[in-house]
Amino acid sequence: MSTSTNAVSEAQAAVETNLIERVLASFDDTPDTRLRELMQSLVRHLHAFIRDVRLTEDEWSKAIDFLTAVGHITDDKRQEFVLLSDVLGASMQTIAVNNEAYGDATAATVFGPFFLDNAPEIPLGGDIAGDASGEPCWVEGAVTDTDGNPVSGARIEVWECDEDGLYDVQYDDARVAARAHLYTDDSGCYRFWGLTPVPYPIPHDGPVGAMLEAVRRSPVRAAHLHFMVRAENLRTLVTHIFVDGDPQIAEGDSVFGVKDSLIKRFDRQAPGTPTPDGRDLGGRVWARTRFDIILAPAGV
Ligand code: BEZ
Ligand code: FE
Repeated sequence: MSTSTNAVSEAQAAVETNLIERVLASFDDTPDTRLRELMQSLVRHLHAFIRDVRLTEDEWSKAIDFLTAVGHITDDKRQEFVLLSDVLGASMQTIAVNNEAYGDATAATVFGPFFLDNAPEIPLGGDIAGDASGEPCWVEGAVTDTDGNPVSGARIEVWECDEDGLYDVQYDDARVAARAHLYTDDSGCYRFWGLTPVPYPIPHDGPVGAMLEAVRRSPVRAAHLHFMVRAENLRTLVTHIFVDGDPQIAEGDSVFGVKDSLIKRFDRQAPGTPTPDGRDLGGRVWARTRFDIILAPAGV
């Protein structure tokens, strides 16, 4: 922890604090009080950072170049600002602030940049894989509220990467694969075929990747399967499940998304083991997991 602001003379400290006061005052007439609070707090923290590290002009210029590069690589398919927020832990901190634990409701985690709104609907027991390659994985569970009541008709969105660690949107063609939505049945249950998740790197060929490399951090995420669950009068849940035993969990998830309660057993099944729905997998290895989901009430 730096104490370098203490190292400056009283006269210098007065120059610096006087500037902060004038910048803060420039926001005093903001009619939107929340906007005023946000801007003034941002100014306080930004100036505290600059003073704490005694930021050089060259470092500030490099920071601006970095943010410019983040902007330049961002388009409707590549969101480098989201990646930056993720690797700085800002996404997970915002989730923590906005999804306080409620009873035994399932924990939320990072959304990531690969969700698509219009994924195809599959029936219960359907397969989300499409053309994506990977080991088949049977996923099942029930959705309940925090009083244990089944939630029927909950909309469950699921998405994941293929066995090469790529989401469909990362290919140059227009494929839609390894994503779908389905609805819980009358007893709140759901089931589908997905792919056994594998660890993969977040996109690291841009400025965020260069930053990770400079600080010797890995871009790899622990293996996971994304869920978003929506039901009337209940808090929308954005989460993933992680694979128990994945070494990447101990090595660290590049976006800090792992929570112990979201680590699930994925039981590998020997070739020829009968499948839950009688599907013939032609002698392939497959896996199965269970994820019971508890939704908090809306607005808590
Ligand atoms: C993802 O899990 O899809 C993801 C999350 C954060 C950054 C990049 C990817
Ligand atoms: Fe992901």
